[in-house]
Amino acid sequence: MGFAFAKLFLLLLPLLSSLTLEHSAAQGFNCSSPRSCRALVGYVTVNNTDLGTIQSLFNVKNFRSILGANGLSLSTPRTHNISAQQVIKIPINCVCYNDTGTSSGAPIYEVKEGDFLFHIAAEIFSSCDDVNGEKVVHYAHIVKSGSTLEGIASEFGTDEGTLRRVNNITADNQLIADQPIDVPLKACNSPIRSDSLDFPLLAANGTYVFTANGCVRCTCDAAVNNSTLRCEPSQNKPSRWETCPSMQCEASDGLSLGNSTTSGCNRTTCSYAGYNNSTIFTTLEQDSTCSSTTPSNDVTRISLNWDFLCILILLCFHLFQ
Ligand SMILES: *[C@@H]1O[C@H](CO)[C@@H](O)[C@H](O)[C@H]1NC(C)=O
Ligand SMILES: *[C@@H]1O[C@H](CO)[C@@H](O)[C@H](O)[C@H]1NC(C)=O
Ligand SMILES: *[C@@H]1O[C@H](CO)[C@@H](O)[C@H](O)[C@H]1NC(C)=O
Ligand SMILES: *[C@@H]1O[C@H](CO)[C@@H](O)[C@H](O)[C@H]1NC(C)=O
Ligand SMILES: *[C@@H]1O[C@H](CO)[C@@H](O)[C@H](O)[C@H]1NC(C)=O
Ligand SMILES: *[C@@H]1O[C@H](CO)[C@@H](O)[C@H](O)[C@H]1NC(C)=O
Ligand SMILES: *[C@@H]1O[C@H](CO)[C@@H](O)[C@H](O)[C@H]1NC(C)=O
Ligand SMILES: *[C@@H]1O[C@H](CO)[C@@H](O)[C@H](O)[C@H]1NC(C)=O
Ligand SMILES: *[C@@H]1O[C@H](CO)[C@@H](O)[C@H](O)[C@H]1NC(C)=O
Ligand SMILES: *[C@@H]1O[C@H](CO)[C@@H](O)[C@H](O)[C@H]1NC(C)=O
Ligand SMILES: *[C@@H]1O[C@H](CO)[C@@H](O)[C@H](O)[C@H]1NC(C)=O
Ligand SMILES: *[C@@H]1O[C@H](CO)[C@@H](O)[C@H](O)[C@H]1NC(C)=O
Repeated sequence: MGFAFAKLFLLLLPLLSSLTLEHSAAQGFNCSSPRSCRALVGYVTVNNTDLGTIQSLFNVKNFRSILGANGLSLSTPRTHNISAQQVIKIPINCVCYNDTGTSSGAPIYEVKEGDFLFHIAAEIFSSCDDVNGEKVVHYAHIVKSGSTLEGIASEFGTDEGTLRRVNNITADNQLIADQPIDVPLKACNSPIRSDSLDFPLLAANGTYVFTANGCVRCTCDAAVNNSTLRCEPSQNKPSRWETCPSMQCEASDGLSLGNSTTSGCNRTTCSYAGYNNSTIFTTLEQDSTCSSTTPSNDVTRISLNWDFLCILILLCFHLFQ
């Protein structure tokens, strides 16, 4: 293991020194957020490896948080093979540089002064800030050689102008292979209270996170649910509590976190609103299932068509046998 670490360090050495050189260019970032937030760092694997090894390499406290950051199913084992040159997103707790920050107790990697992720967190993303007025998860994407801003923007659902501004670069030739750039990933909206220990709770499109000492699991599926964070009880053993506190919504005839009832067009959902030392906050949210919901209907129709197509193919297959 020591050898692997030394090797990793050697590999990262040019990266670290260039980070220091690039520091002045990265200083345009604001660090106005008072607390820590969740961010992601892309790690390009060197050899064939498995998820458990990557977890120990980066000392990530909770294996589930790696699964969530990569949108992998919760049943994925530690022995899940990862081939060389694959990108695995490492969840980190990003704190403002020069600000000790508060640990929210979130089960993710805590950046420690002097380590690799600390350098990325401190020198690339001293920021938990919104971009274009939207909630984002800042992702340290490692640039592949031959990349263009346009390509990166389309890969991660952002636009060139945003990448230019956030990274203070003007042209593709300023993209340097094997160096990180800040890619703001669209995050889901959530009604988290500002006095909550996990405020602002951010999850990028296609990922999920655990919060409230592990009691709650929140999923962001921007395509399906209009960028709303969907939270539900995780069924995990909590990390700081004996048992998870109640997750029922008050005044809601028995709705529990993640449940919803529909009456006509009105849907009432019991949503997650944060937590403190003793309580999990919930709130009732109303939305309409009727007006302007055609996109979700389209999705249903497409999937029905696919089913239909599959049946057709199966039928034909049988006919020709
Ligand atoms: C952006 O980069 C230019 C030159 O590369 C530099 O002069 C300028 O200070 C940078 N701006 C910020 C806000 O870092
Ligand atoms: C930093 O914050 C100041 C004041 O809030 C703002 O004028 C400036 O544009 C911000 N800089 C960046 C790079 O977001
Ligand atoms: C990658 O594999 C090579 C050859 O097996 C080995 O020498 C090297 O230490 C490995 N690197 C890492 C970071 O595990
Ligand atoms: C992972 O790869 C190793 C060989 O490199 C193989 O023995 C093992 O069965 C694989 N594990 C899984 C879960 O596929
Ligand atoms: C923290 O900020 C102060 C003032 O802005 C600066 O003098 C100091 O070097 C910074 N510390 C680190 C570790 O960057
Ligand atoms: C969210 O991710 C899905 C697939 O992962 C993608 O199709 C969709 O365009 C993304 N939505 C946004 C708003 O980025
Ligand atoms: C989308 O939200 C509705 C209610 O708000 C919920 O019933 C449904 O399961 C959600 N879909 C996904 C994929 O999370
Ligand atoms: C409410 O949520 C719980 C846990 O997520 C689930 O077991 C239960 O079936 C849900 N109840 C209703 C009425 O949807
Ligand atoms: C839906 O909500 C609106 C106002 O929010 C209310 O006027 C209407 O009666 C509700 N409809 C049903 C079926 O509950
Ligand atoms: C947590 O929040 C609840 C409800 O708002 C409040 O009654 C309680 O005093 C708070 N506990 C702490 C330790 O802040
Ligand atoms: C919350 O609990 C931690 C230890 O579990 C304690 O250090 C902290 O002071 C508590 N905060 C509040 C507001 O009660
Ligand atoms: C999606 O969210 C936007 C803004 O948050 C809202 O205006 C719109 O009505 C929502 N659409 C649906 C179908 O809920």
